[in-house]
Amino acid sequence: MADVAARAGEPSTSSGLVGGDKFERRTATSFWESQQRWLDTGQMRARGNVDPQPTGPEGPGIPTNLSPAHIPGPGDEASEFAIARILWNYFRTSLSPTFTGGNLNEEESKTMTQSIRASTAETHETSPENAAWFRYVLGQYPTGVTLITAAPGDDEPAGMVVGTFSSVSLDPPLVAFMPDVRSTSWPKIRETGSFCANILTAGQQDVCRAFSRKAEDRFSANHWADTPSGSPRLEGAAAWIDCDIEDVIRSGDHDIVIGRVRALGVGSSKELPLLFLRGGYGSFTIPSIISPATALTRHVKAADAARPVIEALAEELKLEVLVSGVVDDSVVVLTAAGVDSSPGGSPSRVGVSFGLAAPLAPLHVAWAGEGAEKRWIDNAREVVGKIDATLAHAELEQVRSLGYAVSVDVGAAAEFERIVHVPSDTAAPDLSGVLPLLIERAASSGPAALDDPAGVTSLHAPVFDSEGQVAVTLTVNGFSGDDSLARLEDCRDRLAASAAAITQTIGGTPPSAIAP
Ligand SMILES: Cc1cc2nc3c(=O)[nH]c(=O)nc-3n(C[C@H](O)[C@H](O)[C@H](O)COP(=O)(O)O)c2cc1C
Repeated sequence: MADVAARAGEPSTSSGLVGGDKFERRTATSFWESQQRWLDTGQMRARGNVDPQPTGPEGPGIPTNLSPAHIPGPGDEASEFAIARILWNYFRTSLSPTFTGGNLNEEESKTMTQSIRASTAETHETSPENAAWFRYVLGQYPTGVTLITAAPGDDEPAGMVVGTFSSVSLDPPLVAFMPDVRSTSWPKIRETGSFCANILTAGQQDVCRAFSRKAEDRFSANHWADTPSGSPRLEGAAAWIDCDIEDVIRSGDHDIVIGRVRALGVGSSKELPLLFLRGGYGSFTIPSIISPATALTRHVKAADAARPVIEALAEELKLEVLVSGVVDDSVVVLTAAGVDSSPGGSPSRVGVSFGLAAPLAPLHVAWAGEGAEKRWIDNAREVVGKIDATLAHAELEQVRSLGYAVSVDVGAAAEFERIVHVPSDTAAPDLSGVLPLLIERAASSGPAALDDPAGVTSLHAPVFDSEGQVAVTLTVNGFSGDDSLARLEDCRDRLAASAAAITQTIGGTPPSAIAP
C-alpha cells in the first residue's frame, strides 16, 4: 500500500497513510508538485551530476543526480567523497533556520528542515511515518515520465503526467498507472473509459512541465494523432500504449488504474525516454542497449568469422559473395569476396548501404519480431508513400519457411550495379537515391522462389547469433538471370552450408524451423 502511494509520489496527504507528522498535516502540496516547483524555481537543477554546491541564493537543495553514469556507486572512492559531501550538505542545511527547497512557505520550509534534519541525523531512520524521509527514500527510485491522455466528449482533451506507469500482465496485455484522487484530469480520463499512455522522450521535458503545471495551451502547442480508442497520441513520443480502462482500485489517496492494451507502438524518434530521479530529469546512456559500438562489434566479429568461408565459397562458385548487417535501420555491406573473379563483381561493394525497407532484405526482419516488421513496412511507406503490407508479410513468411531469400529483378540489379560501380574507393556508394525504385520493383515482383529460376540475380542466407537473431546475411551475387535451376539449387545449398558454418563459428543458434 505504502509502496503504491510512494510510487504515485504522494505520501503527503490527510489520508492517514502517513500520519502524525506536523509538516504532513499542514501541507496539501503533493510530492510531485513540490518537486516540480523546485525544478521550476531553478533551485534544483537538472544537470546530470552530483552538485553538492548551493543551488540557489538560499543554499543547497536536495542533490539532483540524474545521469546513471554519475550516480555514486558503492566502493567508488570519488563517489564516496561525493556522498560525504552530500551528507555534509544536508547537515549544513539542517543547521540553517530554513530548508531551502524552493517556494515552500516559511512554515513549511521550517518543518521540512526539521524533518530532514531528524532523518539524516538519525542515521538509522526507517520509519514510514516520517513523510520527508518517506519521500526522500522513494525519490531514489527512478521512473519514466508518461503523459496519460484521453478525449472526453466535446470537452478539450485531458492529460496528466505520471511517474507510475508500468506494465502489469502480458496475457492478457495489461498496464497500470496511479493517479492522485485529487487530480482534476483523472475523473475526465476515467469518464472516457480509455486512455493513451505516451512515453515521453528526454527532449520532451517541456511537454512534461506544461502538463504537470496545467499550462493553458498545452494541447495546441503539440502535435497529436488519434489512437484506435480516440485518445490523443503525442507525436514524437518514445512509445504509445492505447488502452481501455479495465479496472480501478482505490488504494490510499491514489487509484490504481488497470488498462487493457488495445494497440501500441514505438515512435520514429531515436531519442531515449525521459527519466525522473531525485526530483530531477535525465536520461540514460547505457552502452549495452544502445551503443552503435556494440552493434558494430557484433557485426565485425561475424564478418571476421565469415571471411575465410566466403572466400572459399566465392572461389568455388566463381561469383561474388557479400556479408551484410543492419546498422541504424540501414543494410550495410560489411565485407565482400570474389569481387574480382566474378564478372559482376565490384571492388566498391563494401560500405554500400540502403534503408531497411519492405520488401527489401527480408532476412534481416523475418526473425526480428513484430516491432521490426512494422518498422520495415513503415520505412518503406516513408520512402514510396504506400506499400502493400500483405505482400510484405508474405515475403517474410516465405523466407521463414525457406530459410533463404531470392532476388529476381535483373533490371533493378543492373541499376544497383550502375550505382555501386564508383571509380573511387574513398566514398562508399549510397543507394538511398535509388531506394524507391528498388522497393517498387521488388514489391511488384512479389515473393520470389527458385521454382521459377528465370530472372534470379542473387541468393541470400542468414547467419544467426546466440539469441536466434540474424547477425549478418550472406549474399551470392551476379547470376545472369538465365542460370539453370540445377546451378541455382547447387549455389543455394552451398550458400546455406556456408551460413550454417559461420553461425556455428560465432556460437549462434538458428531457429528450430530451419536448423540443419
Ligand atoms: C515526473 C512527474 C511524475 C508524476 N507522477 C504522478 C503520478 O504518478 N500520479 C499523480 O497523480 N500525479 C503525478 N504527478 C503530478 C501530476 O502530473 C500533476 O499533479 C498534474 O498537474 C495532475 O494534476 P491535474 O490532474 O489536476 O491536472 C507527476 C508529476 C511529475 C512532474
